[in-house]
Amino acid sequence: MTDLLLGQVLSFTADPFAEGPSAARIDEALVIEGGRIAAVGAADALRRQYPQARVTDYGRHLVSAGFIDAHVHYPQTAIIASWGKRLIDWLNTYTFPEEMRFADPAYAAEVTARYLDLTLANGTTSVCSYATIHPASVDALMAEARARGQRIWTGKTCMDRNAPDGLRDTAQSAYDDSAALLAKWHGVDRLSYVITPRFSPTSTAEQLEALGALWAAHPDCLMQTHLSEQLDEIEWVKGLYPQARDYLDTYEQFGLLGRGGLYGHAIHLEPREKDRLREVDASLIHCPTSNTFIGSGLFDMGGLKAAGHRVGLATDTGGGSSFSMLRTMAAAYEVGQLKGRALHPAELWWLATQGSARSLLADDRIGNIAPGMEADLVVIDLASTPAIAQASHRAGTIWEAVFPTIMMGDDRAVHAVWIGGARR
Ligand code: GUN
Ligand code: ZN
Repeated sequence: MTDLLLGQVLSFTADPFAEGPSAARIDEALVIEGGRIAAVGAADALRRQYPQARVTDYGRHLVSAGFIDAHVHYPQTAIIASWGKRLIDWLNTYTFPEEMRFADPAYAAEVTARYLDLTLANGTTSVCSYATIHPASVDALMAEARARGQRIWTGKTCMDRNAPDGLRDTAQSAYDDSAALLAKWHGVDRLSYVITPRFSPTSTAEQLEALGALWAAHPDCLMQTHLSEQLDEIEWVKGLYPQARDYLDTYEQFGLLGRGGLYGHAIHLEPREKDRLREVDASLIHCPTSNTFIGSGLFDMGGLKAAGHRVGLATDTGGGSSFSMLRTMAAAYEVGQLKGRALHPAELWWLATQGSARSLLADDRIGNIAPGMEADLVVIDLASTPAIAQASHRAGTIWEAVFPTIMMGDDRAVHAVWIGGARR
């Protein structure tokens, strides 16, 4: 089956943080064959070139690469929007009791299906998610994503201290369970395993060392963790690891710093930490709705991008308050304003697609519309509500037309989603 899609087809030829908005282009049509983008270009030319193709005309809708959420906790789906706590209390009050429920594989399967339905409704085609300490919580997401043909990253969250009974593993079992899950799932269809120490406060040095050794044995895997999210957390880390130079050093010492390392939040960074993260080309993941919701702080997008950091965008559901990458772009814009840097809509859209794909070292497969890329697409109605329609109807440029949807759009703006070349 060959599909020809007509619409305002958005792609990026470069990073708009470096090249400006001209890094984005709009074409009239794209062709999908065998689950991949076969061609992008003018409608008439592609109709002539692919006369047998099934044509879907999306009119003035925006056709983009699907959104990629580079840091989420799918097991926190049910506790999203829990009131009144900051990070450590929030973990103890809401998060850990909910994550305990994933000892039941049936519950894990139920939440997995609900979570993937919610992300699909919001136009998110790929996620990199934490699971819980339970291996079955990884199996649940991997199996469901596989059945849906989705490109997914996840891993067993490892914690061997400062977590309640029933939610702790050990250095050895974290290594063994992670290694077994990696062998079972990594590279199966579109699935990837991610080595996942939750964060330094919930791991002993022995556990971080064991997971560093596992990463060294599987350098093609990503590694995800949290870094410098809240000031109280940083003080806690200093007390737990008195010999460390800074928070990042608690990972660096144990082989958990490198390219393919994903560091969630990364708000309150010391100059040394920024320099080392840049030197090793690690990925920083911006979680703006979470950082305001839990009261963590303001990520320095302008400064970090200008310094050449690899940055992705994420909801951090359920510390984050939304499943929507549109809402997440809006929050990134607002945080940027508070930091004195108005992010351009092209930069916001790039972060939610290419930027996240680059942070996951997967930009050769997903996150853009170009020949050879996997056909994960979202089709966006740029006039999905009366308020958005009236705000965008005088737009002179594509970005003036898109920005009201970034700021006010939700799942009603998501007109269609394609995953692996199939309309969902
Ligand atoms: N730090 C350690 N665990 C978590 C988590 O689940 N959510 C957030 N936002 N920060 C964390
Ligand atoms: Zn997180």
